[in-house]
Amino acid sequence: MQSDAPAPSGIARVERRTAGPAESARASRAWWERSADDYQAEHGGFLQDTGFMWGPEGLVEADARLLGPPERVRGARVLEVGCGAAQCSRWLRTQGVREVVGFDLSYRQLQHARRIDEETGWRVPAVQADAQRLPFAGEAFDIVCSAFGALPFVPDAAAVLTECARVLRPGGRLVFSVVHPIRWGFPDDPESLTATGSYFDRRAYVEEDGQGRAVYVEHHHTMGDWVRALASAGLLLRDLVEPEWAEGNDEVWGGWGPVRGRYLPGTAIFVAEKGSP
Ligand SMILES: C[S@@+](CC[C@H](N)C(=O)[O-])C[C@H]1O[C@@H](n2cnc3c(N)ncnc32)[C@H](O)[C@@H]1O
Repeated sequence: MQSDAPAPSGIARVERRTAGPAESARASRAWWERSADDYQAEHGGFLQDTGFMWGPEGLVEADARLLGPPERVRGARVLEVGCGAAQCSRWLRTQGVREVVGFDLSYRQLQHARRIDEETGWRVPAVQADAQRLPFAGEAFDIVCSAFGALPFVPDAAAVLTECARVLRPGGRLVFSVVHPIRWGFPDDPESLTATGSYFDRRAYVEEDGQGRAVYVEHHHTMGDWVRALASAGLLLRDLVEPEWAEGNDEVWGGWGPVRGRYLPGTAIFVAEKGSP
């Protein structure tokens, strides 16, 4: 999720343009290393150290049960993609899931994961890796999940979903939340209800420094692009959840907030499965 964390100094220009896998990973890594402390200070309370939050709307896995029935999830081997401080994985640990692994591109985010492990006593093994090249064996997991981790930040969503499918066992489940595609037509302002851009503009949102180097990159895919990416990864789409803004949730998070949340979705959660042979 784009953060309200103070923009790093040195942003000279904001553009919509293409950004490839290497440029996107370089920008994301540097941005998250720099912003992790502010991000956790600002959003850690809402996310909760042992909470599984699907997005700013306030939908939690304890209510949604998108990963599957608790008795099945408890015995599953789970991978969290772009885990940040691993709040989601840690919630799974509190629910009795023994085999949970998280990974993230940012070392500083993983340091926060370790800090919260120590503070809560719930430990999550986590490694530093790029979702564009997963360092895990094929069919190693029963569930792969992600709450806004990695997928909004890569140009080739199909390639990452193909990697997720590779590490899933046949019959396994992939569940991930991303920015709802409709959001890209609207400004990053939680109260604006006037579309100012095209939903169909697939160019990345890029913040650049004075030398034209990307310092923050977020990628846009339409709803159809996501469905096509899942299909090309050989996954079967089982559900598409568009959470409604929860009653009493006053959280304002970048372009998400209760004013626009009353009218438009801000998060899309895809539930997919790898077919059994
Ligand atoms: C919005 S956070 C989501 C993490 C957590 N669920 C949360 O809500 O804070 C996005 C995370 O994706 C990670 N990320 C970005 N690009 C990535 C990539 N290519 N591979 C792995 N992680 C990536 C970032 O480092 C960051 O920790």
